[in-house]
Amino acid sequence: MAPIAEKLLHTDLAGPMTTEPFVIRRVVKETADTFTLDLESGDSSREFTFRPGQFNMLYVFGVGEVPISISGDPTKPAVLTHTTREVGAVTRGMRRLKPGDTLGVRGPYGTAWPVGEAEGSDVVVVAGGIGLAPLRPVVYHLLAHRQKYGKVVLLYGTRTPEDILFRKELERWRSRFDLETHLTVDRATGPWHGNVGVVTTLIARSPFDPQNTLAMVCGPEVMMRFTVLELERRGLDEKRIYLSMERNMKCGIGLCGHCQLGPRFVCKDGPVYRCDGIREVFSRREL
Ligand SMILES: Cc1cc2nc3c(=O)[nH]c(=O)nc-3n(C[C@H](O)[C@H](O)[C@H](O)COP(=O)(O)OP(=O)(O)OC[C@H]3O[C@@H](n4cnc5c(N)ncnc54)[C@H](O)[C@@H]3O)c2cc1C
Ligand code: FES
Repeated sequence: MAPIAEKLLHTDLAGPMTTEPFVIRRVVKETADTFTLDLESGDSSREFTFRPGQFNMLYVFGVGEVPISISGDPTKPAVLTHTTREVGAVTRGMRRLKPGDTLGVRGPYGTAWPVGEAEGSDVVVVAGGIGLAPLRPVVYHLLAHRQKYGKVVLLYGTRTPEDILFRKELERWRSRFDLETHLTVDRATGPWHGNVGVVTTLIARSPFDPQNTLAMVCGPEVMMRFTVLELERRGLDEKRIYLSMERNMKCGIGLCGHCQLGPRFVCKDGPVYRCDGIREVFSRREL
């Protein structure tokens, strides 16, 4: 049977539920409501290995714990990076943290993007809004092993230009010859002269070979639904399309049932799923 997603069953930390203190080394404000934290283990010999697409449970002491994808570079295990949007109590508490403060980390958990399966193919990465955060490690991986892949295309859409994450890095990526990066915004504001329209409008003119392409998609569920349809219109088989799902989580390791999506636990069977394995449920929020 073909792999549903690239799985990593062990966890990197001492035990599956052990929270380890990490010290905040750098805080970067990305947009009005998103920020990136670079963390280092209190133990200087400690390296944190993960695979692109995996997440950690981050514990803001005295407030609570939330799942956040790892947005950093898998080839640099000394620094652990997460990019978070402030939506409620825990993420608000996280946003208030400063360099030198401590955050609890357990993980990494969940399935990974299929960067191994994609070798030898063109790769199209489609991100909406903060969905670029869990996909950024994929881009790092593809660039670090560039010769193993065909064309690599990154399509990124946000609501407005002010919502674009990782701006400087995107500029660097746009100037590379071995990576096609295209941005679009739903609504142009200020001096924006780029594409206007939802991210799916970029797919029709993207230069990948649909017969030999693997797609990785992350963003709001409605965006992922239309992205899948558009990729299929270009000729991609649903078995070559992968999505990352978000559901409420508590334990992160398949024990509590909080993240159940039909018969699946998103924390351990996901968050990365092959499209054909999740399609019938991925737009139903109540599941
Ligand atoms: C596998 C996985 C990976 C994730 N990766 C990231 C990541 O990389 N970066 C990131 O910012 N978030 C990520 N999330 C979402 C993140 O876990 C939630 O935003 C967080 O749990 C909210 O906690 P809170 O206590 O701040 O807000 P809560 O008090 O739980 O929620 C406050 C309000 O925000 C709403 N809300 C909750 N989550 C979201 C959301 N994702 N988007 C919009 N509204 C929401 C709630 O419905 C509620 O109305 C991920 C979730 C999962 C399951
Ligand atoms: S979060 Fe507990 S079972 Fe998935």
